[in-house]
Amino acid sequence: MTPSSMQHGNVRGRIFSGVQPTGNLHLGNYLGAIRNWVQLQDSFESIYCVVDLHAITVAQDPDQLRQSTREVAASLIAAGISPERAIVFNQSRVAQHSQLAWIFSCVARLGWLNRMTQFKEKAGKNRENARVGLYSYPILMAADILAYRATHVPVGEDQKQHLELTRDIAQSFNQAYEVDFFPLPEPQILGSATRVMSLRDGSAKMSKSDASDNSRINLTDDRDQIAQKIRKAKTDPDALPSEAAGLEDRPEAKNLVGIYAALADSTVDAVLAEFGGRGFGDFKPALADLSVETLSPMGEKMRDLLENPDHIDNILDVGAARAEAIAAPIIDEVNEIVGFLGRRS
Ligand code: TYM
Repeated sequence: MTPSSMQHGNVRGRIFSGVQPTGNLHLGNYLGAIRNWVQLQDSFESIYCVVDLHAITVAQDPDQLRQSTREVAASLIAAGISPERAIVFNQSRVAQHSQLAWIFSCVARLGWLNRMTQFKEKAGKNRENARVGLYSYPILMAADILAYRATHVPVGEDQKQHLELTRDIAQSFNQAYEVDFFPLPEPQILGSATRVMSLRDGSAKMSKSDASDNSRINLTDDRDQIAQKIRKAKTDPDALPSEAAGLEDRPEAKNLVGIYAALADSTVDAVLAEFGGRGFGDFKPALADLSVETLSPMGEKMRDLLENPDHIDNILDVGAARAEAIAAPIIDEVNEIVGFLGRRS
């Protein structure tokens, strides 16, 4: 346990996690991350951040960015995050993230960033034209986490490599300055849907940036949209197997069964015990009903919340002040460790 987590009277540690405000949240974000955030907020001191600084690593329309930030904050609350128990805020409001990111740019090595697969995927072939911010994105992520000396980071599987880099940066800082200041944060990749795949292609991750809206279920989709997307989801012609091993080499079937298990709070084995031997003609309507039942109330709640944008903005204001109160003294200490001449108090 780190000194910072003890300081705040929390025996289990401190959580930090983030989500980008680049469009609607989808089922992958929910099952891979946000649902776990809701559960963890009761046992950890939890800080949940809408990462607008990360969002501008690709082009954004300013008005749209503001609106998406509000919408994502509303989704978090609609999903069950309590702004009293957890801290909810948008990243750009707490300057310490950017300050620490610069210091970490002077700790991390080019070779470490060159290994990041997400940059390679996002930059595509025209790497020379990629923004520098897209390249150094994982450094800002390390700063997000370590500005709070967070000990646990609940994320989907796609963030695993970024968290390994965060640990490398923490360790390297500690070594370079001969301190034991930053904890090495633990990724928490929880549940049976840590990598939800596209509904149109079982080999691609469900993603906000997929051109086809039918590839994902958005948390804003209404009942009909949810049911229709499940009906149209790509499958194969075979019946479901009765054991998990039978899902290997059947990526679409594996994805839908994984989604069902996660939404039902069950396991893949239990779902196959029920549906094994039955075709998608039986399974898809059951999955559609379950999805509508669990997801549509969130969409409705979010739409209600957005009718009063001031309320959301107030929550983010309070969250930013609480976040800054934790990060500011930590970054003061970092400045001292690094050797910056500070203000005379
Ligand atoms: P983002 O906005 O892409 O996604 C937010 C969370 O959702 C998870 N996720 C998925 N999980 C399962 N299946 C999927 N198809 C799927 N798609 C997304 C992600 O793993 C993530 O947990 N870099 C981060 C945001 C970030 C962050 C941080 C996270 C910035 N700073 C500090 C943790 C700690 C991102 O782009 O997430």
